[in-house]
Amino acid sequence: MKSICLIGFMGSGKTTLGKALADELSVNFFDTDEEIVKWRNMDIPGIFESEGEKNFREYESEVFKRLPVNDAVIATGGGIIESRNNREWLKQHLMTVYLKTSFKEIQRRLSFEQNRPLWNQEMNEKKRLYESRQRLYEECANQIIHTDEKTIEELLRSVQNSINFSKQG
Ligand code: S3P
Repeated sequence: MKSICLIGFMGSGKTTLGKALADELSVNFFDTDEEIVKWRNMDIPGIFESEGEKNFREYESEVFKRLPVNDAVIATGGGIIESRNNREWLKQHLMTVYLKTSFKEIQRRLSFEQNRPLWNQEMNEKKRLYESRQRLYEECANQIIHTDEKTIEELLRSVQNSINFSKQG
């Protein structure tokens, strides 16, 4: 099986769903943010502050390409699709599922968020970032799943259905 890769904006539930899905499928789970933190031995806000977003993106792309393209579930950071090269990788090597969440719902979920540097900015900037990424997520996705008002069980079922469907096809 190709690895299943979850993409989507911050707060779309990639990590939570990814862990549950990996459990269900009995495969390993990876999270690009977690891999970066282990490798650089620093948390994400620390990397943004001391090294800047550009370096963070380089680390992100590097850990992403090292993750298995078969038999795993991968949760990515919301900005993985900023790089054209990563988008090509998503399209070529992975079964990519976009967890699409409305901006309103993301605002609700991240209302007390402190650890995401790009959420810690003016509302206009956050909205602009959200809007500008939509077409990039969609461009890479084999499957789009809407997450607003869905339980984790419902989301799990949707992803599993799409995996079964792609096996038949
Ligand atoms: C980012 C999303 C974060 C993390 C970093 C940058 C982004 O991951 O990679 O703060 O650019 O959207 P999550 O999507 O898991 O929050």
